Amino acid sequence: MNMPTENKPESLAEKRILLLIGGGIAAYKSLELIRRLKERGASVTPVLTAAGEEFVTPLSVSALAEQKVYRSLFDYDDEVEMGHIQLSRKADLLVVAPATADLMAKAAAGIASDLATTLLLATDKPALLAPAMNVRMWEHVATQRNYNRLLQDGIKFVGPAEGEMACGEYGPGRMAEVEEICLAIGDHFSASPRINKRVIVTSGPTRESIDPVRYISNRSSGAQGTAIAQALISRGVEVVFVSGPSAIPPPVGVHYIPVETAREMDAAVNQALPADAAVFAAAVADWRARSTGAQKLKKATQKIPQLDLIENPDILAGVAKRQKHRPKLVVGFAAETEDIEIHAQQKLKQKACDWIVANDVSVNSGIVGGKDNAVTLVRSDGLERWPSMSKLEVGNRLADRILAVLNE
Ligand code: C5P
Repeated sequence: MNMPTENKPESLAEKRILLLIGGGIAAYKSLELIRRLKERGASVTPVLTAAGEEFVTPLSVSALAEQKVYRSLFDYDDEVEMGHIQLSRKADLLVVAPATADLMAKAAAGIASDLATTLLLATDKPALLAPAMNVRMWEHVATQRNYNRLLQDGIKFVGPAEGEMACGEYGPGRMAEVEEICLAIGDHFSASPRINKRVIVTSGPTRESIDPVRYISNRSSGAQGTAIAQALISRGVEVVFVSGPSAIPPPVGVHYIPVETAREMDAAVNQALPADAAVFAAAVADWRARSTGAQKLKKATQKIPQLDLIENPDILAGVAKRQKHRPKLVVGFAAETEDIEIHAQQKLKQKACDWIVANDVSVNSGIVGGKDNAVTLVRSDGLERWPSMSKLEVGNRLADRILAVLNE
């Protein structure tokens, strides 16, 4: 029997992986990936794109996979033996490594122009993509748009990593290491089974336009909100993740709703109701400009402009005070620089929420933009001071507390 031990990698016994190999220099790593997956007990059915074939040979792919390699949508023998629809369905997971910019663009647009893209469109199984491309291609607005589109479609990603590239440039775009891809595949299969709970998490800053190029925002990185969403997902919760602009990618498996302004966040949160709980970790801009001109404010021709600000909707208070569809548990955050707990108690009452997670965001606390957080959980019946811990641990602890209440 294949028993996992401390030194042995996690078992993927009986897992069927359909591996789509795209055309990039990182394709050579897919050979190693096949070996590692097979070592863990998975069966790997390889599919090689025409571009992939420029980098690795069908013979080496098929020899390592110990299976035939599928290459063409219109191969008569393949279609008779197993049609492409069947091929796309008989796997437990589709893995695309390397996922080139071209493959990502086609998958995002739903284009089925060859066997690999047709399989991605025809499948009813989850897909995990390991992007690999030049840094400029990865950072290109079109690729980022496709990446976000695919995330919203529920596609999972591993990488890309940052580092030196085959083309000599440096930055994000390198394919994740084989071991990391194996771990992501293992995580996919070991994720907790879904429990029937739905939680909305807001995260990141909001951006409020002043004119077409300028905006008001804040220093929130989105790290704490992302960690909470991650912790909830790993506990099998359905998470609606409504986030302002953040450099941190949303956790795999959330239903991601990207927003920019407080009003967009407000609309997205209210549309996502009903939910069992809502966690408001976003640093929402309190004010926005009353009017935003269609043209950029000119420095030379105008006096220093006076910003006329108006208040943004308080999303947390709005949800906590709802008559209909108020979640069982509404959790707010209070970022303060002084008298943290007193302010948090006041906020709890003013906003009618159940808990406030209060933290010190004074400059010397190092919390904003940092990895750690020291929070106090304030409830109407008392408070708990948590020691300083990583934002991930805060997320885990909070997720456990939330589930304890939802399971009462
Ligand atoms: O009032 P203050 O901004 O300090 O409150 C912080 C809490 O309220 C956070 O949970 C934040 O996400 C939420 N909030 C909100 N909408 C606003 C302002 C804050 O949801 N407009």
